[in-house]
Amino acid sequence: MTERIKIIFDGKTFEFPLLIGTEGEKAIDIKALRSKTGLITLDPGYGNTGSCTSDITFMDGEKGILRYRGIPVEQLAEHSSFRETAFLLINGELPTENQLKRFSVMLNDHSLIHEDMQFFFQNLPRASHPMGILSSMVTALKSFYPELPDMEKDVDTTVTRLLSKIRTLAAMSYKISRGHKVVYPRPDLPYCANFLNMMFDSPVKPYKIDEDVVKALNIFWILHADHEQNCSTSAVRLVGSGKVNLYAAISAGIAALWGPLHGGANQAVIEMLEKLATQGADIKNLIERAKDKNDPFRLMGFGHRVYKTYDPRAKIMKATCDKLLAKFNISDPLLDLAKALEEAALTDDYFISHNLYPNVDFYSGIVLRAIGIPTNMFTVMFAIGRLPGWISQWKESMEESQWKLGRPRQIYTGLMKRDFVPIEKRS
Ligand code: ACO
Repeated sequence: MTERIKIIFDGKTFEFPLLIGTEGEKAIDIKALRSKTGLITLDPGYGNTGSCTSDITFMDGEKGILRYRGIPVEQLAEHSSFRETAFLLINGELPTENQLKRFSVMLNDHSLIHEDMQFFFQNLPRASHPMGILSSMVTALKSFYPELPDMEKDVDTTVTRLLSKIRTLAAMSYKISRGHKVVYPRPDLPYCANFLNMMFDSPVKPYKIDEDVVKALNIFWILHADHEQNCSTSAVRLVGSGKVNLYAAISAGIAALWGPLHGGANQAVIEMLEKLATQGADIKNLIERAKDKNDPFRLMGFGHRVYKTYDPRAKIMKATCDKLLAKFNISDPLLDLAKALEEAALTDDYFISHNLYPNVDFYSGIVLRAIGIPTNMFTVMFAIGRLPGWISQWKESMEESQWKLGRPRQIYTGLMKRDFVPIEKRS
């Protein structure tokens, strides 16, 4: 028999089912709480609230575990490609050789974007943030590519189209922002190499594809590919629950990711390190500021809602960073500063007692810098990586058994009923 959890309220006992996930996570199922008891729950920031059940990603914040469809992220980073990991997340299984080939062909077939979209870019102010541009462009895709009527084909095509076009859009916005000629996608190149070529190839200096750079980018995107019900994924699910089209739901995810407490942290980390470098690298002062409750400053790239130990992605990112910089003999003073800052924080009582460790964003910016990505594109890079996760979570939430319009409640704390006062009588 299913175990029950008892709630005693107003002298009465109410019973609710206990849910247990495949990894032993326990939850009280309160779907009937309000109808049975008249109560709702209050959980700002949703730290104790499960918004759905999901088969996609498992993470254990205490043990530092992250798995996509059961496979540890460490194994995927070592052996898989971003394209293959995207397939795994969206379809639930690793592809066979034929499935991967077909997926690659589809990605290539959909890599061009409508020429008219260039006019959008050209008329946006040069100083526009690439995340704002990306979010608008993804919404605009709906106008250029209205969905097909056949549902099966529709979902596959829409999803692949989005995965492929987002990379073209990102590279195109970079080229246009610099006043450079747009580079078209090349059908002979795989996903990551194709993106790098669109970003950095030019008629005067052809881009030389380096396999270690391609591997680093694959790892970066694999590590960002999904992270269960985080801020932007929850935005995608919530907006999607209103049955908007996929493009609109993903655009909401991009907007949510932009913030410095979420995906924007990778840009904020580099800006923090650059400031630290120009202000004499006073690490002690920075640590003291991060601990001071009267100072709004926080150590960017540190802390996580779920991880209370070292973020497993940060470990891989740090190793990738060391490898890449060593290969190209790059000496990045920001890497030395980051390592010194990490050491100082990890031996500080405040950071130890608050379980604050580097998160994925702490070293990712240095990897992106080594690849040649400009700082204001960092969060766009995160968004491309997170896209398979958003898509798979959206797909799962649209399944009949899962779909429910998202609509939290609240506890009203404003004024009680009072009468309207005409303007001449207001003091
Ligand atoms: N620097 C200093 N103190 C911190 C930091 C930090 N980076 N992060 C958390 N704390 C402290 C808080 O001040 C608070 O202290 P208190 O309990 O003494 O008041 C305690 O740790 C808990 O902090 P919360 O904000 O309640 O924790 P929450 O789980 O809501 O925050 C968050 C998680 C937003 C990521 C936070 O750690 C943070 O702001 N980090 C910096 C931004 C960052 O790196 N974001 C990227 C996260 S990863 C991602 O989204 C891709």
